[in-house]
Amino acid sequence: MSFFRGRRLRRTESLRNLVRETELRPQDLIHPFFVLEDDDLQTRKPIASMPGQSQLGLGALVDDVHRAWDQGLRALMLFGIPKHKDERGSQAYAREGIVQQAVTRIKETVPEMLVITDVCLCEYTSHGHCGLIAEGMVQNDPTLELLAQTALSHVQAGADMVAPSDMMDGRVQAIRQTLDAEGFCDRPIMSYAVKYASAFYGPFREAAQSAPSFGDRKTYQMDPANALEGLREAEADVQEGADMLMVKPALPYLDVLRRLRERYDLPLAAYHVSGEYALIKAAGEKGWIDERQVALESLTSIKRAGATCILTYFAREAVEWVG
Ligand code: PBG
Repeated sequence: MSFFRGRRLRRTESLRNLVRETELRPQDLIHPFFVLEDDDLQTRKPIASMPGQSQLGLGALVDDVHRAWDQGLRALMLFGIPKHKDERGSQAYAREGIVQQAVTRIKETVPEMLVITDVCLCEYTSHGHCGLIAEGMVQNDPTLELLAQTALSHVQAGADMVAPSDMMDGRVQAIRQTLDAEGFCDRPIMSYAVKYASAFYGPFREAAQSAPSFGDRKTYQMDPANALEGLREAEADVQEGADMLMVKPALPYLDVLRRLRERYDLPLAAYHVSGEYALIKAAGEKGWIDERQVALESLTSIKRAGATCILTYFAREAVEWVG
């Protein structure tokens, strides 16, 4: 017999464990949280399209972060939902904005939790776009200063890392310059470098109340059909000083993630987004798939494709599954 006997190395569980190439570790996972500015600090508003996830008042958030730490979670990403929105998204960079308060509270309570903040205006603007609007268009350059101020206010509150998700050109450079000038040369930037204009963000926009009130995000987020363009975006962010690069969404773009892995030596993040989570949850609830197994297979695949770390709404559960 002269054919390949691949089954030899799959004969027993110990053997399969021995030759496993990819291991999902608790410290690979980053859980996104939504903090809601509300008079009731203990408020919990479940997000219908993301079962298991809620908008949390400040107190409820701190409780959940504390519990997640005890479960083994070591990193989180924060999104804010402000009480007031305006044309310029001023609550995004307000010193006492909801994210700034949340960072402070988390750092007081669970100081070792790695706190990453999403830097964007869309949750804070009345029009729901990620940048300033003039003549019906999202304005790139005037937005940069606001993004830099947002990032600065987050690190001043104690954020360990900032993650710009707006897809304006030049934002990594603008943020880096501002952080450095203000004495925060030690805080890294995780750039949402390759972010697609994806329908998979649907549930998130309900969760963060950030759907654009007119038009769409196609003049700043990328065309799902393009991979080479993603490489150009990544290169620009590397040149501008990004410390980590992100691909988003994750599963539909594993090819892009793999190409970035081969080309760059920076750590890579992948964002398993709200729609990817919702699909698994919905099919799991119907009993059509094994939710836990599908979630773990998805996250392992993202890691196998080249992700150093993964943002996922399954993180809290997954740290226990793999811990
Ligand atoms: C903000 C932002 C979005 C997501 C992360 N940051 C939404 C968007 O760009 O419309 C999506 C995350 C998810 O779907 O889980 N710009």
